[in-house]
Amino acid sequence: FDEGAPKTEIITLTSHVLSQQQRHPIATGDLTLLLTAIQTTCKFISTNVRRAGLLNLIGAAGSANVQGEDQKKLDILSNDIMVNSLRASGKTAVLVSEEIDDPIIIDAAHRGRYCVVFDPLDGSSNIDAGVNIGTIFGVYKCADDSEGKVEDVLRPGSELQVAGYCMYGSSANLVISTGQGVNGYTLDNGIGEFILTHPNIRIPDRGKIYSFNEGNSLWWDEPVVKYLESIKYPTNGKPYSARYIGSMVADCHRTLLYGGIFGYPSDKKSRDGKLRMLYEAFPMAFLFEQAGGMATTGKERILDIVPTSIHQRTPVFMGSKEDVEDVLKYFK
Ligand code: AHG
Ligand code: MN
Ligand code: MN
Ligand code: MN
Repeated sequence: FDEGAPKTEIITLTSHVLSQQQRHPIATGDLTLLLTAIQTTCKFISTNVRRAGLLNLIGAAGSANVQGEDQKKLDILSNDIMVNSLRASGKTAVLVSEEIDDPIIIDAAHRGRYCVVFDPLDGSSNIDAGVNIGTIFGVYKCADDSEGKVEDVLRPGSELQVAGYCMYGSSANLVISTGQGVNGYTLDNGIGEFILTHPNIRIPDRGKIYSFNEGNSLWWDEPVVKYLESIKYPTNGKPYSARYIGSMVADCHRTLLYGGIFGYPSDKKSRDGKLRMLYEAFPMAFLFEQAGGMATTGKERILDIVPTSIHQRTPVFMGSKEDVEDVLKYFK
């Protein structure tokens, strides 16, 4: 064939997960079925994101979530897509969504062994401008003696079985880890499958880009101000470049691929920062560590934290190992 001819040896997300499971015979296939449900939600949300302008899905829904944020129509629609599909999969017991105040405990008829925490639509403020947005998810396993209760998700991020996100950009990119490294898949709209395009993603040990909302710097604590100064006015070498999209998924995706640092620190107004532990910080921290990077609050490893409530927030710094180590020096 010509170099331009289509490749016929494609690896789909489903076949890839199945082949990984065959190497780990403890797996029952339930997780594969759950991941199938999750990838279907991503395809469904992707379709709606792309038609949003045509289907009157742009704009506010007129309601607010438990954290006081105005919900967009796409926040609600994406949430409903996920809740319905995950319940119907028969593989879940507890669901936690950014858009729902309380944990959803799945009825006995649909109950499975997994708990899914998710941010159905990340980057809401970017929807109306057509800028990249995404979906973030994490999967825990229920305790053996549990029929599904909130305690099953109030677990440290290090206990996640799966973490991932799907970014809706020029294409839909699904990046996922089951604890054996990180793989990236791109949705081929023609065949409706996520194809392995980024096997074994490794984040560079050091980057050249920082990604913070510097509009908050008036309220930042000294270690953050000093760290930012050190990369903007270096004593040797070139200053870092700034990139900030305002969608965690997109900012983290770029950071994973190019290296550098993404941060949303606590500040004098928000002592716990902005991002939510369960469905934003944990899954991303899991992916960064699995890719060879680091994720910290400035004081401790994010994945070690034991959450006490489902919508709790945490400061985050995640990215290339050496860049995160530099941040930590300023917190010492
Ligand atoms: P969400 O749209 O799910 O509520 O998340 C918003 C988050 C995250 O995507 C992003 O990193 C951050 O908010 C941006 O916040 P600022 O607008 O304060 O920079
Ligand atoms: Mn929100
Ligand atoms: Mn979010
Ligand atoms: Mn969201």
